[in-house]
Amino acid sequence: MCGIFGIISSDNNAPTSTYKGLLDIEYRGYDSWGVAFLKDNQFKIEKEIGFLPKDKTFESAEVAVGHTRWATHGGVTELNAHPHTDCDKKIVLVHNGIIENYLSLKKELIGHKLISETDTEIAVHLIEDEYRLTGDLKKAVSNVFKKVDGLNAFVVSNGSQIVAVKKGSPVVAGSAANGSIVASDPNAILPHTNKLLFLEDNDLIEIDKSGIKLFDAHTLLEKDVKYTDVDWKYQGADLADFPHFMLKEIYEQPKVLLALAENASAVTEIAEDIKKAYGTYFVGCGTASYACLTGVYLFSKIAHRHVNFSIGSEFTYIQDYIKKGSLVAAVSQSGETIDVVEPFQIAKRKEATLVAMTNVIGSTLYRMADKKLMLNAGPEKAVAGTKSFTSMVANMILLAYATAGDLKAGVEVLEKSAKEIEKVLEKADEIKALADKLHTSKNIYILGRGLSYPLALEAALKIKEISYIHAEGFAGGELKHGVIALIEKNTPVIVFVPNDETKHAILASAQEVKARGAFVIGIGEEETEVFDYFFRVADTGASSILPMVVFPQLLSYYLTVKLGLNPDKPRNLAKSVVVK
Ligand code: AGP
Repeated sequence: MCGIFGIISSDNNAPTSTYKGLLDIEYRGYDSWGVAFLKDNQFKIEKEIGFLPKDKTFESAEVAVGHTRWATHGGVTELNAHPHTDCDKKIVLVHNGIIENYLSLKKELIGHKLISETDTEIAVHLIEDEYRLTGDLKKAVSNVFKKVDGLNAFVVSNGSQIVAVKKGSPVVAGSAANGSIVASDPNAILPHTNKLLFLEDNDLIEIDKSGIKLFDAHTLLEKDVKYTDVDWKYQGADLADFPHFMLKEIYEQPKVLLALAENASAVTEIAEDIKKAYGTYFVGCGTASYACLTGVYLFSKIAHRHVNFSIGSEFTYIQDYIKKGSLVAAVSQSGETIDVVEPFQIAKRKEATLVAMTNVIGSTLYRMADKKLMLNAGPEKAVAGTKSFTSMVANMILLAYATAGDLKAGVEVLEKSAKEIEKVLEKADEIKALADKLHTSKNIYILGRGLSYPLALEAALKIKEISYIHAEGFAGGELKHGVIALIEKNTPVIVFVPNDETKHAILASAQEVKARGAFVIGIGEEETEVFDYFFRVADTGASSILPMVVFPQLLSYYLTVKLGLNPDKPRNLAKSVVVK
């Protein structure tokens, strides 16, 4: 989702640093971009629709702010792209979030020239008025911030200072040898420094040549700046020898699993908390929600324990039974997903124990949580989650085994599945050949039962989000309740057939779709005559869905490439969904 970058640079290289910063956060998803820098007492703004061009050069300047926009209010146009300016181009502003009361705030503007359809532009003109009255940028920003409803981050500059303020949307700052920087994502600051200042909600920072000052955004009382020393490595556009990040990340999965297995004791404390909790609730969105659902099956099967699961955006409607003693675990790669942050806020108010299962140290969920369980998947840049799903499920497996008092067994199944994933990866060409055959399909259906049901949902999400082929995952048992009406001659149906208690029933489902003319693609240990195509994945016990999920990951990747699309940057999607 929208990315923000701003710098006051001591080497006069602010526009180029800003452009590079935007490249570092472009994986978040965007549809236009812009960079503003001061030239002859006025801001010069370069904006374009589409992706940032490679190797663009900029003039030199001391101060610059930039933005990658994911359209919410107003279409994808150059005029709507950020940065936006005041009437005289003396103040620029970039924004992440939605100003919910922008229509009523617009009425306060008299005599201003507005040129875009965005809510954002209102804010910079309101700041223009306040700045004229106060002559103090931080006061002007604070006054406008207090009026604005919604979850928003603003970065504003008058050419000599940058002021940033936030509620909801993430903002990080850093003080480096070449200047002071603010951004929406630590990865854009890491090339400059590892000392990061994570802004809390209602924090305001003022940056000038002397450095960074921190204030309460409402009272403007100064606060101590406390930097966090992070030991993360900067992840640039390093594809190694891979054509896309998604493929690289798929291939990293065995390594991720082995590292989790090696550090399995990390789950012990949280497993104990789960045992003591009044009830455990796993909350996530999209791919993470399917990992949460696997938790329900895994805890039942391995630990004989009931845990609950909710999609983040639905949690509000079922939260009434949360109380002190409940444990709410937010599962999120980015740690920033607003539909997971809100349940966490509700759970916090109700004094539940908060556990963050996230990939990003210092993220909003990480900072809100009482306890953290890191996914340790390494940075994931492709919009489609692959290794993060694997890590989420692996952590669920370890938690379930630890809760059952047999963590060693959890480690063993993870090690087995890492080996089996290697074997699946060795056969990637077979999956590519299948993608060549299926890429003209209008619909693909996926069936699973038990643990393979969330797997079927995840497989369908992978296919539709990057290849735009309609795909749906179903529980095999639902076929006769309506789904079977969709099956026509040659409809591709992927069927997950692990060697577990679901095997006979799911094979019966396969027979039913085959009888209606489906092209049945079987994934499992044993080939049977019902399959028109078979891809072997050896059973690894409770972790079998880990090697099996690699099949739809690779299939969706190759379908997308065959269709001439970019799997790393699917249309309309953002890596990190921080607005509602
Ligand atoms: C994954 O392929 C999706 N792009 C998406 O569903 C994602 O899993 C979801 O937005 C949640 O993100 P998070 O894990 O960062 O919270």
